[in-house]
Amino acid sequence: MTFKALIASGGRGTRLRPITHTQNKHLIPIANKPILHYAIEAAVSAGIKEIGIVTNADSDEVPKAIGDGSMWGVRMTYIPQDAPRGLAHVVKIAEPFIGKDNFIFYLGDNMVVGGVKRYLDEFEKSGTNCYLTLAKVKDPERFGVPEIKKGMIVRVEEKPRKPKSSYAVAGIYIYDSSIFEAVKKIKPSARGELEISDAHQYLIDHGRKIGFSEITGWWKDTGKPLDLLEANRLILENTDPGIEDGVEVDSHSDIAGRVVLQKGCRVVRSKVRGPAIIGEGAIIENSYIGPFTSIGAGTQVINSEVEYSIVLKSCRILDAGMRIEGSLLGNDVEIVRADGKPRVQRFMIGDQSRVEVA
Ligand code: DAU
Repeated sequence: MTFKALIASGGRGTRLRPITHTQNKHLIPIANKPILHYAIEAAVSAGIKEIGIVTNADSDEVPKAIGDGSMWGVRMTYIPQDAPRGLAHVVKIAEPFIGKDNFIFYLGDNMVVGGVKRYLDEFEKSGTNCYLTLAKVKDPERFGVPEIKKGMIVRVEEKPRKPKSSYAVAGIYIYDSSIFEAVKKIKPSARGELEISDAHQYLIDHGRKIGFSEITGWWKDTGKPLDLLEANRLILENTDPGIEDGVEVDSHSDIAGRVVLQKGCRVVRSKVRGPAIIGEGAIIENSYIGPFTSIGAGTQVINSEVEYSIVLKSCRILDAGMRIEGSLLGNDVEIVRADGKPRVQRFMIGDQSRVEVA
């Protein structure tokens, strides 16, 4: 059976502001690689050759960053969505691209370890029309939630106040073309979106076969800042250490654990304790980089300490004076010591930023 892949990369990413004021959330890097690459790579490693990506119609950011697919040896088709009208709407506008083929629908902000090939195989074996992946979560009310009776999904509810199970329907779905009837028949929900959970309920109500399996490794929806830090931790934990070309580490530095040093970065009189990644051309001097930290390309960390954080490109953290932890810094951010007396904290921070001071 051949499959196509459909990846959602639209929406506004409001919960990740201010970073998403200037950058599509699917291009935020996790372990120095855009989130969207992980979805594309999952499809590619399952043998898929044709990928459709739904993007915001008013921006060419994603097509520009991802290109025509030649980087992965696949054909990439971009499908513009005029506004975030819901995930069932994403599927609906993709019908001309999908045609009669079976396909995997992958939410571009979801990350799963271990790839998706096994779910495609299970879909094929089970002869179902729709195959859902489920993950146990602490907060099912944030997700689509299945009700399971006698080993069958009998109901799917979107963000229910009283969840009927402790599972989330993860953003990795496999369909045959019967999903198109469902997404055309359902009506927008109270929040004005065509809900993918309503499309699933339509399939159940119309006697279609729904299969499912539980994701036993880890799965993350990276909708909120803390989710990004967690995803970064999990990816770094599963990344092999390595030193790329042109890296300089002086004899006074100490690199321990799973650490990736990317092209041309410099570590001087510093300690880097993995899992961590230091980006291309970054400079770490007289500093400490602690576990679960990604330092972006061209960023400088001097006389400072950073741990369990994501720091994007071209930042300057100079003489920060206190350890930066659990933080997400956008591109070109500066944290520097204020000169002179009295000792003050001085901020110049864009809209919807958040700073916690000790
Ligand atoms: O992550 C799994 C959850 O994803 C499921 O359990 C829910 O049933 C499902 O509705 C969805 O819930 P979210 O509230 O997390 O969806 P969100 O609006 O964050 O959108 C998910 C992805 O799809 C995100 O990458 C943005 C993209 N998107 C979203 C909408 C509404 C689009 O491309 N177009 C859209 O119209």
